[in-house]
Amino acid sequence: MLGVTLTLAGLFSVVVAQVPGFEGCPDVETISTFDVENYMGKWYEQYRYFMIFEAGGKCVTANYSLNNDETVKVVNAQVNSLLGFPSQIEGSARIVDPKDPGKLAVKFPVSPFEGSYWILDTDYDSYAAVWSCQSLLVANTQFAWILTREQNPPQDVIEKAKDAFKKNSISVDLFLKTNQENC
Ligand SMILES: *[C@@H]1O[C@H](CO)[C@@H](O)[C@H](O)[C@H]1NC(C)=O
Repeated sequence: MLGVTLTLAGLFSVVVAQVPGFEGCPDVETISTFDVENYMGKWYEQYRYFMIFEAGGKCVTANYSLNNDETVKVVNAQVNSLLGFPSQIEGSARIVDPKDPGKLAVKFPVSPFEGSYWILDTDYDSYAAVWSCQSLLVANTQFAWILTREQNPPQDVIEKAKDAFKKNSISVDLFLKTNQENC
């Protein structure tokens, strides 16, 4: 185990990374212009890398809205698959450097650390491809999410999101489907 890191869409606490990679985080290309307002609102998590803390979560959603100070309010919600109870966690995100607007940092009150939230690609009204990598001293931990506006989107929407990962040589084989049935 490499340590703990903080996460993003659909995440509820500090997690232990399941997909450790070595050396620094790879270079990826994030979206070059980012219209934060169009990105706001509700997203459904369709796929994610496996994370211990999310195991057992279905109907995972993220709702982003603008705070007055131009940070983004993040509300991640899920339903426990076994017991059926809903839960949510609230955090905030910010664009770290306006010159690189697709790279956000997100923070939840459960952790003192910010996690990275990098938007590889989005068309705002159907899909978003989100990636996170934390560089640790001798390793890194990577997470990835496919978010969609529709709860049950057509496959071509998923493929568009996957293409953003493939273009950056990020594995799509590690994705697990998030259950969005009977929510
Ligand atoms: C998303 O969050 C905003 C701000 O808290 C809220 O006004 C809005 O109703 C929420 N939308 C959904 C779909 O939950």
